[in-house]
Amino acid sequence: MTLILGLESSCDDSAAALVTSDRQILAQVVVGQNKAHQPFGGVVPEIAARAHVEVLPGLVRQVLNDAGVEVAQVDAIAATAGPGLIGGVMVGLLTGKGLALAAGKPLVAVNHLEGHALSPRLVDPALGFPYLLLLASGGHCQLLEVCGVGDYRRLATTIDDAAGEAFDKAAKLLGLPYPGGPAIEVLAEEGDADAVPLPRPLFGSPEPHFSFAGLKSAVQRAVVAGTHRPADIAASFQQAVIDCLVDRTARALATSNAPALVVAGGVAANGAIRAALASLAERHGRSFAVPPSWLCTDNAAMIAWAGAERLAVGAVDGLESPARARWPLDPAAETVRGAGVKA
Ligand code: KG4
Ligand code: ZN
Repeated sequence: MTLILGLESSCDDSAAALVTSDRQILAQVVVGQNKAHQPFGGVVPEIAARAHVEVLPGLVRQVLNDAGVEVAQVDAIAATAGPGLIGGVMVGLLTGKGLALAAGKPLVAVNHLEGHALSPRLVDPALGFPYLLLLASGGHCQLLEVCGVGDYRRLATTIDDAAGEAFDKAAKLLGLPYPGGPAIEVLAEEGDADAVPLPRPLFGSPEPHFSFAGLKSAVQRAVVAGTHRPADIAASFQQAVIDCLVDRTARALATSNAPALVVAGGVAANGAIRAALASLAERHGRSFAVPPSWLCTDNAAMIAWAGAERLAVGAVDGLESPARARWPLDPAAETVRGAGVKA
């Protein structure tokens, strides 16, 4: 059994956690920065990085205290090394390097996407490789075959916005606070999902790629028109996203023999999306797994867990490991035609 200290700081959440290789979460804490970013309607990288500097070391102290553990008892330090907002990534990675150096512990430089990708295995010991993963967050929307630790095959990605980004932009248009996903989910409950006709970009196209930019523009037109209730726009938008996620994932399932469908990333915290993908898996005769909502949005338990999985296969990193703004899980995946910076 190994004990891992995990650190996360790639976007607007500072987080620390202590997790064991036999799936005990001894302590974990996440401190968000929503208030600091809300006036700007999105994350301001410079503000985020400064906040991580102020908050992260205290969170390390806190999880060690909560668990009654000394750094000397930890087997490795796992810190997110990318992809993400580079200033924040540097803060967390350097904090991890300092701890590793001072305590004489190995460093695991974790890919944040691998943290999301392996997170379902932290809570589900029965989930083995391979599985088909829909990774839907604020920065990414991908379908991947997860074949093993460090072994990913990307089947699809977004050619423009990520799913969470679409939620955040639609929320901003509706005058809802950042982050938009939870706010839209709540408002959608009072709305009629059939009230506003909205497009389903790439629906039915042969390759399972995603696109959400046109949907956002259609929401903008509906808001400007002023003829629909905000709740109806929210519900219709959420349904359009669900239809796209289900259609694209169904397309990927048709080409994958993986016995399980897994959903992870912040967007997987959405109850309607979880339910729609659970029933998709059932229709295709696959088992279904989704982590609890707190483990879908950014946290350090998933980084510590990815650290444990990597440590178990001997994948430790040197103190010279770089911080990376971009870091694809499947470097061999081709850039998709039409894709912007998020391939
Ligand atoms: O994984 P995450 O916490 O951070 C990234 O790695 O990006 O994902 C954050 C994204 C945001 O875009 C947020 O609006 C979205 O996940 N999100 C949701 C919900 N909760 C968070 N989207 C839809 N419904 C939710 N309940
Ligand atoms: Zn994330």
